[in-house]
Formats: sequence, structure tokens, C-alpha cells
Amino acid sequence: MKHICLSPTVHNSQSSNPIQPSHPKMNNLVNKRSRTRLLLSLLAISSTESFLSQHQAPVSNSIIPALHLAAYRNDDTFSSSPPTILNKQPFLSTKPPSSLPNGGSITLLGAGPGDPDLLTVKAYRLLSDEKNLVIVDRLVSEEILALVKGEVKRANKYPGCAEQAQNEIYEWCKQGLREGRHVIRLKIGDPFVFGRGGEEVLEFRKFGVEPAVIPGVSAAFSAPLLASIPVTHRGISNQVVMCTGYGRNNTSPDLIQYHKEQTVVFLMAVGRLRELCERLVSLANYPIDTPVGIVERAGCPDQRTVVGTMETIADLAEEYGVKPPSTIVVGDVVNVLLTDGDIVGMMGGVEVIEVEQ
Ligand SMILES: C[S@@+](CC[C@H](N)C(=O)[O-])C[C@H]1O[C@@H](n2cnc3c(N)ncnc32)[C@H](O)[C@@H]1O
Repeated sequence: MKHICLSPTVHNSQSSNPIQPSHPKMNNLVNKRSRTRLLLSLLAISSTESFLSQHQAPVSNSIIPALHLAAYRNDDTFSSSPPTILNKQPFLSTKPPSSLPNGGSITLLGAGPGDPDLLTVKAYRLLSDEKNLVIVDRLVSEEILALVKGEVKRANKYPGCAEQAQNEIYEWCKQGLREGRHVIRLKIGDPFVFGRGGEEVLEFRKFGVEPAVIPGVSAAFSAPLLASIPVTHRGISNQVVMCTGYGRNNTSPDLIQYHKEQTVVFLMAVGRLRELCERLVSLANYPIDTPVGIVERAGCPDQRTVVGTMETIADLAEEYGVKPPSTIVVGDVVNVLLTDGDIVGMMGGVEVIEVEQ
């Protein structure tokens, strides 16, 4: 039995809230009858959708959106989620089934930042199943790979050969599916935070299978935390922006204008740190003394944090040989919790710290 949650407030079909039911049939129901009756109707839909998902019946556009979407829902992925009910025409291209006739299936799985203790229980369970084929790139930590009980294939996704490595990953996934295996596409952090997670879903659909997607702890928030940097702090920062250093085809994304009470977290940006800081100062109004922290290999035994300012951080990063994967945090929050005890070095009057794990 699927659980269906309803918001107590149900708006009319003009509502701009995308999660409110608004199909005319549903609105009539809501307006004219009691909530209890609506619940009963939805339970009936729930039974029908399980019939449809078993029989893969073609679904016409006239079927109400909730039923249409739910009929192709991946049960494993969304078993604990309420259904989404759109108030506009849903995406009518249908999702493929969650497994192939030979049993082959794919799970896009978040690995968290690197510490095995930060895996989800679900990730741990999937990595411990020796029947699963686990496909990773070089960003996933050795400590997490050590937990994998089954076969692992690892692509070397270095800058310059990322496309080639990505194609290799797709080939391995296809091959695993052909063999009827459960393929675990393990990705660093959260699968949908940068790193092509959505693109991979679209590609897997072309292979005829809808992947399950399991969230992971993203470096965007966990790397600062593991380095004692709260991304928000009352009176210091009331907003957080997450940004990549590299846009598509190596472009630089639009700069985020300075705001004193804002934290900016940059992923994939150490390679162009100097240029980034120069542009933030000259084009986006960042004062040169804005604190900047770099957290390298957060959650790994060799985690390091280097702290400086917009003016000094690029030199410090060079001096300390900072490498990816690193997360850069910009804003006054960088200094909120750090203490003298964290400092292991001084460079030109600038504090340099390493946070012991
Ligand atoms: C391709 S992006 C993927 C982000 C990932 N999906 C996430 O949610 O964390 C890779 C970037 O994540 C950041 N990152 C991932 N793991 C990290 C770690 N252990 N320590 C610091 N930064 C990390 C780095 O900025 C790295 O360049």
C-alpha cells in the first residue's frame, strides 16, 4: 500500500504552487466533497497505478496528471515520498521501467564527501551486496571503495579526458545492464549537486531503464562543517550560494555580487582560484579582506583547511599545494568558530590552519 499525503490546503486550478493538485477533476472533488472522499479517490488511484506499473499499459493524455506520473514512478526510489501532483501538463514523455526484462537495473548513489561513516545506510547496504557492480570515478575515496564487496570498475576522470572517462562509464553501465546486473553508479557527494547526475539519468533512460537515485551528503555543506565553518550564522550570514568554478566547456559562471551577510561555497574551483579571487574583487565588489577558507579532502584522514583572505588565499593555496577535491568558502562565517588551537602555521601574518580529523 502506498501512502499518500495531502496538504490540508488545496487551491484552485490557477494556483501557482506546483505541488498543489489542480486538475479540474481534482479541484471539483476538493471543492465539493470532503477531504475524506478525496483520500478514498487517491487510494483508488494508488491501486490503479500499481496495476499500470505491472502491465505497462499505454497512458493517454486524458488520464489525470497524478495518475500518469505515479504510474511510472520508480517504487524503490520514491517509496517513502508523497506523490507529486502537478497543476500543469506533466512531462508526457514516459519514463522507462526501473528494470530490464533480464533484471538489469541502475542505482545512482551518493557517496558523501569521503568518510565511510557519512554514507547513508542505504548506500552502505548497496555497496555491501556482492552481486552489485559498482562503477566509480577517481573522486570517490579509497576508504569508501574498501567497503565494496562486489566488483568495482573505476574510470580515471582527469581534466582533459573527462568526456572519454564519462563514455567509458556509460559503456560499463550498459554492459552491466546487458548482463542483467544491478549497476551501482557511485558518485561523490550528492548525485544531483554538480557532477552530471541529471545528465546520467537522461542517458540511462536511453538505455531503457529508469535509475533509482539515492541522495548523499554533499560536500557543499559538509566540507565547511567538517572544517568548523558554519555556512550560516545569525548576525553573520543569512544566505548561502553554491557555485561551480567551471561552467560548461570551461566557461566561468556569472559572478555572485558581494553581500556582507552572504556565504558563497565554490565547488570545482581550486584550479582557477587566483583568477576567481581577482574577478570577485575587481568585478563583484568583494573587499580584499573577505575571509576565504579552502577545505581539501573533507572527511578523509588527510583533510586540510587553509584560511586566508581574498587577497592572500591564492598564494597560500599554491604554497600548501592545495588540490582537488577541495571546497572553497567565502564570507565572514569562515572565522566564526576557528580558534587559536586550530592554527598550525603563519604565512606573512596570515593564519593557516589544519583541522585534525
Ligand atoms: C564534480 S563536483 C561533485 C560534487 C558532489 N556531487 C557533492 O555533492 O559534493 C566535485 C567537487 O565537489 C567538492 N568536493 C567533493 N568531495 C569533497 C571533499 N571530500 N572535500 C572537499 N571538497 C569536495 C570539490 O569542490 C570537488 O571539486
